[in-house]
Amino acid sequence: MRIYECADYRAMSRQAANIISAQVIMKPECVLGLATGSTPIGVYDQLVEWYKKKDLSFLRVRSVNLDEYRGLSSTHEQSYRYFMQTHLFDRVDIQPENTHVPNGLAADPDAECARYDQVIQDLGGIDLQLLGMGRNGHIGFNEPSDVFVMGTHLVNLTESTIEANKRFFASEADVPRQALTMGIMHIMQAKKILVVVSGEDKAEAVAKAFTGPVTPQVPASILQIHPDVVLVGDKAALVHLDRKGVIEL
Ligand code: F6R
Repeated sequence: MRIYECADYRAMSRQAANIISAQVIMKPECVLGLATGSTPIGVYDQLVEWYKKKDLSFLRVRSVNLDEYRGLSSTHEQSYRYFMQTHLFDRVDIQPENTHVPNGLAADPDAECARYDQVIQDLGGIDLQLLGMGRNGHIGFNEPSDVFVMGTHLVNLTESTIEANKRFFASEADVPRQALTMGIMHIMQAKKILVVVSGEDKAEAVAKAFTGPVTPQVPASILQIHPDVVLVGDKAALVHLDRKGVIEL
């Protein structure tokens, strides 16, 4: 695993965008696994800037997002489809039909999960998966649990996640209680994984995930056994990691 420690959020975003940009330049038709949340916003802003300068094109890129809230439509401002449209898709030349996000309004969530697994399989898997990380160590919405769930599945969000995400909604009661999320298998089958973390409230989860035991109670800990993971974080988020092996930028 490679760890890049960046001076601040802006530098973290730029470094992560550099890695995504390199992937797109090396393989223009690559499959990007994308994440939402506050951490990757700066990464998407940087990619848009390079696109506008004509340094980068997403014309042939295919994308699969990690997750979507159950019950939110694509036009709901807090849906992850809406997030992706506003932060990236509507700002670059990616083809709409090449972007995939689970359908939060599907009447039959199990059928939607099976469909989404098929989408990922038909794309030939993921070349580069971008991940944020929850304070409880979740990746996508794979919440702490007794088992790692393999495929796309419907999940009940934990109190900790509802609490963390209520900042985006009018009140805690408005936060959806369920989500559809890619499972651990497709995340782990991605050829490369890029994890972005920022801020001291992530520091404990980062330490547990990357230096603690591999356990479904800390879902991100499974990344320790992936052969090609890059962790890009700011100083605050990486504060509990052993300095050895950390590349400072
Ligand atoms: C979002 C996702 C989540 C977030 C995580 C961290 O697609 O999969 O796992 O990455 O909740 O969110 P932020 O970045 O808001 O702290």
